Amino acid sequence: MGKVGLFYGSSTGKTEFVAYQMKDQFDKRAPGLVDVFNIGSTSVEQFTGYEYIICGIPTWNTGQLQDDWAFFLPKLKGVSLKGKKIAVFGLGDQNGYGFNFLDAVGTLTDELLKCGAQLWGLWRTTGYQFEESKAVVEDHFLGLGIDEDGQNELTTARVERWVNQVLGEFELG
Ligand SMILES: Cc1cc2nc3c(=O)[nH]c(=O)nc-3n(C[C@H](O)[C@H](O)[C@H](O)COP(=O)(O)O)c2cc1C
Repeated sequence: MGKVGLFYGSSTGKTEFVAYQMKDQFDKRAPGLVDVFNIGSTSVEQFTGYEYIICGIPTWNTGQLQDDWAFFLPKLKGVSLKGKKIAVFGLGDQNGYGFNFLDAVGTLTDELLKCGAQLWGLWRTTGYQFEESKAVVEDHFLGLGIDEDGQNELTTARVERWVNQVLGEFELG
């Protein structure tokens, strides 16, 4: 069975915290399935070495990629992710940045899809309040949305549900 590589970038630790919370949830269902990496110290070979990939990314500086992801993503230019199953989770602040909520999820998924990846882990926008987001297609985000600034009481349940969803979609559950 293929393993899952979970790659996160995090400037103030919130995405890192959620990444490890997510690993705990995966471990409950499938011990040892998930390896966690900080994208800031990850090579392209490590990234592409996984058949199943989860990316965690916060949006920074009003609609921008988190710094380590901004540095890593150009390295994927010309790299094939064909056949890989990828799911994304994003952290943002819907109250403070309601016109750019989770934008980085949209930018990141664009790049991953250009490389030929299959995108899973879409998540309904019900229960969030924001004006605009590059991460939205119709009534779904392109990945799990987490708001540790405004809705941290919902994080654990959201992570748990999404992990179950992704295990099913990756056909690993
Ligand atoms: C200066 C600044 C700009 C931000 N810009 C956005 C934004 O455009 N969209 C958004 O959804 N969240 C934005 N956020 C909120 C962060 O994404 C959020 O706090 C996130 O949890 C940080 O994750 P990290 O600690 O892993 O870096 C911003 C926060 C700060 C302080």
